[in-house]
Amino acid sequence: MNYNIALIKGDGIGPEIVSSAVRVLEKIGERFGHTFTFTDYLMGGIAIDTCGTPLPRETVDGCRASDSVLLGAVGGPKWDKNPAALRPEKGLLGIRSALGLYTNLRPAKLYSALSEECPLRADIVEKGFDLMIVRELTGGIYFGERGRREGKYGPEAYDTEAYSVMEIERIARVAFETAQKRGKKLMSIDKANVLETSRLWREIMHRMAEEYPDVELSDMLVDNAAMQLVRCPSQFDVIVTSNMFGDILSDEASQITGSIGLLPSASLGDSKCGLYEPIHGSAPDIAGQDKANPIATILSAAMMLRYSFGLAKEADAIEAAVDSVLKAGLRTADIIGSSDKAPLGCTAMTDAILAAI
Ligand code: IPM
Ligand code: MG
Repeated sequence: MNYNIALIKGDGIGPEIVSSAVRVLEKIGERFGHTFTFTDYLMGGIAIDTCGTPLPRETVDGCRASDSVLLGAVGGPKWDKNPAALRPEKGLLGIRSALGLYTNLRPAKLYSALSEECPLRADIVEKGFDLMIVRELTGGIYFGERGRREGKYGPEAYDTEAYSVMEIERIARVAFETAQKRGKKLMSIDKANVLETSRLWREIMHRMAEEYPDVELSDMLVDNAAMQLVRCPSQFDVIVTSNMFGDILSDEASQITGSIGLLPSASLGDSKCGLYEPIHGSAPDIAGQDKANPIATILSAAMMLRYSFGLAKEADAIEAAVDSVLKAGLRTADIIGSSDKAPLGCTAMTDAILAAI
């Protein structure tokens, strides 16, 4: 089969890690008899510099016309003081929204080879963890009304969180179905003791649970969830939560795996065309130095094969290769507690993964 993949390399380490994932996809193509055709599109800071907008129309059109999108990362200090409409992140939120990608899947598991790198206590590490965060991606406070105004105490800023019944129902459906395919346990995380959006969220989750009697649904307040993730991560199977809570909890989950450089993500909507990106940022401090960890992006490419193209064997081959290089003790510099061995750079880590495929 031939697949057309849109590449958004973005800023910082984006180009290096996307190139690594492209090399891996090409190798998979050779081994399994597929062709992947890649087309580059601009987004983020580089698009602001080149086209004067973080999300050029050609990028949206090109992504829509492709079979899927692979994204590196956007942002950097150069654009940090820009007005809201000219920030790199605006491009990322814009493409998620334009492609209707309301589901963000962020798996986080502890590799047995990385138990030494996990910052948690040995008895917690021993139990391991393997969880999937289902983050709502096109609603909530990220997309609510915001601005500046004159308030009771003078000038103020505001952001609003809104969730419609429809938005909660559709993410609930994905979460219950994801739980059905895994350990059949779903934890809905909210702040229902304070927020009205959370109370609606909880109400709908419970109503939907009636359609999925085989899934055990529980609720947890987000502050408690932040604590439970480091106290006993093995209690979680599938987590479903709002856009902002999912953003925060997925960074926390990544850290207990040993590094944020390991976590992939899939952003999905109702069509086959998804957007796949590492959960980490553009790491401008190490950009262009061949120090970045390509694993999160390579695993994101594996998720693309699995979720958008239905190529499970091919995805398994990539995941097994990553597993084997970690088992062999190979580490990039970001992986916590890296041993006395010199860490590998982005290219060398990619070479090792290619050799293992
Ligand atoms: C993420 C990132 C983005 C988000 C930023 C860059 C806008 O942190 O994908 O987790 O908050 O969604
Ligand atoms: Mg984030």
